[in-house]
Amino acid sequence: MTWTITPQHPFSARVEGIDLRTPLTPAEVQRIETLMDTHAVLVFPGQQLDQHQQINYAKHFGPLDLGLRKLKGGPHRFDYAELADISNVKADGQVAEREHGKIVGNVANQLWHSDSSFQRPRAKYSMLHAVVTPAFGGDTEFADLRLAWDHLPDWQQRQVQGLRAVHYALHSRFLLGDTAYTDEQKNTLQAVEWPLVQTDPRSGRKALYVGVHTCEIPGMTLAEGRMLLMDLLEHATQREFVYRHRWAVGDLVMWDNTATVHRGRWYDLSERRELRRATTEEVLTSPEAAALA
Ligand code: OGA
Ligand code: MN
Repeated sequence: MTWTITPQHPFSARVEGIDLRTPLTPAEVQRIETLMDTHAVLVFPGQQLDQHQQINYAKHFGPLDLGLRKLKGGPHRFDYAELADISNVKADGQVAEREHGKIVGNVANQLWHSDSSFQRPRAKYSMLHAVVTPAFGGDTEFADLRLAWDHLPDWQQRQVQGLRAVHYALHSRFLLGDTAYTDEQKNTLQAVEWPLVQTDPRSGRKALYVGVHTCEIPGMTLAEGRMLLMDLLEHATQREFVYRHRWAVGDLVMWDNTATVHRGRWYDLSERRELRRATTEEVLTSPEAAALA
């Protein structure tokens, strides 16, 4: 069957005529990677994937990322630790109370971020599949960090070129008042640094790699660095650079975390919302790794 690719926004496209349950040929994997270089966000509507099928689809693109499950063991509803439970549902299947520890993760996802940018290796592709959607709200927004770079004024491109940013997993949690972590948990997730401006080895495009996990710019005072990071994130997420996805059950949305940031939007937390995310780790050749060191 031929795939129909319909660009729906400057950096996102719908892909139809593909069944993600079927193993991909190497040529098909390459085709999707090439589409990802162009679009950064791909929407595959109408996919009926079980956990196993979603994991198998994701594995075509690299080793799977565990994200924050490294930090928080605890009960998990799924057969795979690598499948992130993006829902407001407890292990017993009931909708979580607002005070439940899980809800802070839902709220933190409403801050602009790139998945697992706080670790090495970081996340490359996230693949989020909608299982239950609320009556309203609960959209997900994406902003293109390459457009953000392209539209920075020259003086600011010069200002930020060569700078680095510190990414820390708990920064967004601390912002939301979620501070009850043991020293062991805090140490499990050491902060990492990434260049603020990076060139994608595949597309050759530069991206402004910011998001809520960034908390410091080495060489600047905390105040000046944080202000600059907030300014850059505000620039990157202006409306013209944002694609808003309204979920339908069965959608699988795949995005490139090195080229975009995303955030969940408000929904009534007492209503059930269930999505499942599989995520790949970025795999770099040694020259690519050296450029990002
Ligand atoms: C994610 C995420 C936002 C949302 O799955 O990584 O940030 O809308 N989701 O649930
Ligand atoms: Mn996320």
